[in-house]
Amino acid sequence: MQSLPEGFHALVFGAGGALGGAFVERLQADPRCGRVVPLGRQTAIAVDYDDEAGLAQAATQLRDQAPFHLILVATGALHTAAIQPEKRLADLSVDTMEAIFRINTFGPAMVMRHFAPMLDRHRSVLAVLSAKVGSIGDNRLGGWYSYRASKAALNMVVRTAAIEMRRTHPGAVLAALHPGTVTSALSRPFRGDEIGRAPLDAADAMLGALDGLTSDDSGCFLAYDGQRLPW
Ligand SMILES: NC(=O)c1ccc[n+]([C@@H]2O[C@H](COP(=O)([O-])OP(=O)(O)OC[C@H]3O[C@@H](n4cnc5c(N)ncnc54)[C@H](OP(=O)(O)O)[C@@H]3O)[C@@H](O)[C@H]2O)c1
Repeated sequence: MQSLPEGFHALVFGAGGALGGAFVERLQADPRCGRVVPLGRQTAIAVDYDDEAGLAQAATQLRDQAPFHLILVATGALHTAAIQPEKRLADLSVDTMEAIFRINTFGPAMVMRHFAPMLDRHRSVLAVLSAKVGSIGDNRLGGWYSYRASKAALNMVVRTAAIEMRRTHPGAVLAALHPGTVTSALSRPFRGDEIGRAPLDAADAMLGALDGLTSDDSGCFLAYDGQRLPW
């Protein structure tokens, strides 16, 4: 990350996942990165979106390591042990929608609430992994109601936070980022192992795309190759 200051500080949420783990690996190998803190449900400072107080506590514990120059939120769910993405309206239930929104929208929003104020004011990037299927303009296939809607709502939270942050943190860039199809537990039931790229390749591409963003780009929705996506 050439655009970040020498010795930059990074946080990676969802470090136990395929893309979160790949981000951590790449940042640990980056000589310009002074410190990367992996955060997940199993890490010493634990972050579980079902525990809002714990998230606030994690922010308090990490405050003395601020300011942060790079915050990557690589959490998300398309399915769980109990949930499969919906194919039709008849599959919808409040419980399912709530569970998926909790992971894909509410959790990252709370991360932004507690951690965005700790971004470096001069040059920093906060990227949240979204998905192209969260694009309303690009939706031609339908299905996956909760996942699509939760990512569209996430994009709105990122955009809104970017407008607010511009006043206090003019050098911060907030972005909703589509990783492309990547081999992971999330994509596996949907042929992810056949059609997905390796998580490290996706992480390289995404870090490259983020490196090229300026504060004028804050609030954007972009793909791993830097291409802007329709809302
Ligand atoms: N893979 C793809 O093809 C693809 C395509 C488009 C978008 N994306 C997006 O990329 C992101 C990362 O996906 P991935 O492929 O790396 O999936 P993954 O390997 O399944 O990782 C998902 C991550 O989300 C975390 N998580 C799930 N529920 C959580 C909760 N309640 N609280 C806190 N963390 C929770 C998991 O934590 P644990 O490690 O603790 O389980 C894990 O770190 C997601 O936002 C996904 O929507 C992926």
